[in-house]
Amino acid sequence: MLSEATTQPKLQHDEFIAIRDYIYEKAGIWFAENKKYLIESRISKRMGELGIASYKDYFYRVKYDSTQKEFEALMNVVTTNETSFFRNPPQLKAFSDEVLPLVMKQKAEAGNGNKKIKIWSAGCSTGEEPYTIGIILLEAMKSHPGWRAEILANDISQNVLYAARKGVYQEVTLRTTDPKIIDRYFTREGKFFRIKDEVKRIVKFNHVNLNDTRQVSPITDCDMIFCRNVMIYFSDEIKKSLVKHFYKSLRPGGYLFIGHSESLHGISKSFKLEYLKNALVYKKEAAATEMAARTKNKVADSHTNTMDTLAKIRQLLEKK
Ligand SMILES: C[S@@+](CC[C@H](N)C(=O)[O-])C[C@H]1O[C@@H](n2cnc3c(N)ncnc32)[C@H](O)[C@@H]1O
Repeated sequence: MLSEATTQPKLQHDEFIAIRDYIYEKAGIWFAENKKYLIESRISKRMGELGIASYKDYFYRVKYDSTQKEFEALMNVVTTNETSFFRNPPQLKAFSDEVLPLVMKQKAEAGNGNKKIKIWSAGCSTGEEPYTIGIILLEAMKSHPGWRAEILANDISQNVLYAARKGVYQEVTLRTTDPKIIDRYFTREGKFFRIKDEVKRIVKFNHVNLNDTRQVSPITDCDMIFCRNVMIYFSDEIKKSLVKHFYKSLRPGGYLFIGHSESLHGISKSFKLEYLKNALVYKKEAAATEMAARTKNKVADSHTNTMDTLAKIRQLLEKK
């Protein structure tokens, strides 16, 4: 009997380029040439399910499916969804102990009675990240009655969103979670752990393609955005445009958390990098627009001064 590897159809270079470019154009996810085998193995499985024998036929199926269903199925197979509860604890400590108290203070001082914390988990995978944020908020709000939380969580893969809404997890994904938190916020079901409704209630899952301006633009007024370990799959061009959206989606004084191995260097100068005790975070400064206007004025002033000096020199030379 032939092994699965030998029955897998071979992806030709031109087919790889066509599929790779299409994924990039639609989802912003970039596959370099050394990822050809990954695309081949993931797509060939899907082709097997559909009974399609050639990559060319599969590509046409994706491209000309007006319902977008096959594109969604393609996203289910090509995305990398690795995640876990309380991923990168130092960054979450920065969130709970440093950023959250500051944001609550800012809001309380605004004096408009807005006691809602709105957080966006962009690229939420199977839900561990937004539920972790939810647990941290619920813990914080125990000592701050009257506050409420809203977490918007989205992903391009419908499969991960289905799992996230279900909220049932294996023990391995809780490996960095405090046992007391597990006891408080999960119900044990045999080998599995079900997230409690108390947390589920404050997280809203939606299908959103971060590379689609129409889908991202309506998300506004966020106090914090978590987009961790998502932009690593995007090109710099896509990162730049997404980070511009994040800037617009945050309210002034809000914070952006990206993966600990990621950086906005060369991507955006709009955010201020803050060195907190536990981690680095990006802040949309409260007076950012005024600061930008001030810098613009300074540049304009220095330009005027230079022009004045040049005019004076010209006058002197003309007099000679
Ligand atoms: C590695 S997971 C990161 C999950 C979580 N943020 C974390 O750090 O644990 C990356 C997620 O980004 C999602 N993703 C990739 N491209 C996307 C896009 N264009 N729009 C929305 N989600 C996307 C993937 O489906 C995947 O679930």
